[in-house]
Amino acid sequence: MARPRVYVTRHLPGKALEYLADRCEMTVWDGELPIPADQLRVQVANCEGLLALLTDRIDDELLTAGPALRVLSNMATGFDNVDVPAATQRGVLVTRTPGVLSETTADFAFTLLLAAARRLVEADRYVRKGEWKTWGPETLLGHDVYDTTIGIVGMGGIGREMAKRATGFGMRILYNSRERKPDLEQRYSMSFATIDDLLAESDFITLHAPLTDQTRHLIDERALKLMKPTAVLVNTARGPLVDQEALYQALNEGWIAAAGLDVTDPEPMPPDDPLLTLRNLIIAPHIASASVATRSRMAMMAAEQLVEALDGRKPKHAVNPEAWAGKAR
Ligand code: GLV
Repeated sequence: MARPRVYVTRHLPGKALEYLADRCEMTVWDGELPIPADQLRVQVANCEGLLALLTDRIDDELLTAGPALRVLSNMATGFDNVDVPAATQRGVLVTRTPGVLSETTADFAFTLLLAAARRLVEADRYVRKGEWKTWGPETLLGHDVYDTTIGIVGMGGIGREMAKRATGFGMRILYNSRERKPDLEQRYSMSFATIDDLLAESDFITLHAPLTDQTRHLIDERALKLMKPTAVLVNTARGPLVDQEALYQALNEGWIAAAGLDVTDPEPMPPDDPLLTLRNLIIAPHIASASVATRSRMAMMAAEQLVEALDGRKPKHAVNPEAWAGKAR
């Protein structure tokens, strides 16, 4: 039987490419930057499988250019880069890589939380700039993390890992999500709260919800004004969850104390973005899941699901299982 043709949109860590090369006719985009959309359309013209990243826009135009496509394996837990209804309509199965990155991502969200609260990046710059002249009783005072209240928005795999970490810091935990999670409420002694109550009562607000029409600009001017002036906002989910113009105002005018962002809108954030002038913002280039082990696991999971589906075995993490009845099968 002919081996399936697959296209991979970037070089991947770990053994995922070897795995695919053993089982498929594979082509890999070898640029450091994402493949331009017009070139990707050419590349998928006769492919049955595509392994894509969150930097690839998978829209109707792309799917039209790849009439033989049966499976799109997205190496991410989020899939807002994919027009899922368009894929479903064409019988293209879409898969994602949840779970394997939850702990690593929560570790990083907590890193941002701690660093923003304790002004770590400012402190590092202060020393490097030669400003450290003496120990000062009022130098770089930040906010405590232990014994405070954390508000977790979104209680999927990453939200749950945040609750686990917050427990270790003796934090009171509030959460909001589409569905209540009674088992987790019990395990982590946490309470469900309306989004407004969570914003008003939390010292730390951390976002772990997917980007949807409902969550776009969830954190807008109104939301920021509900937060405490000492609050710290952390976003490791998706940039558009936050209205960045409102966030600039909030940080600049002291409606909240600080923010830690791993995701922005757009990505990459332009170097002249006004947010980058603020001392109370810590920012990273979308690296919350970026450990060697986790990115290798994500890549392998994406490769395995691609092969499984092309082999006619239903993958575990299909976004649109209803497409299984279509070409994927
Ligand atoms: C990363 O942002 C992911 O969705 O996996």
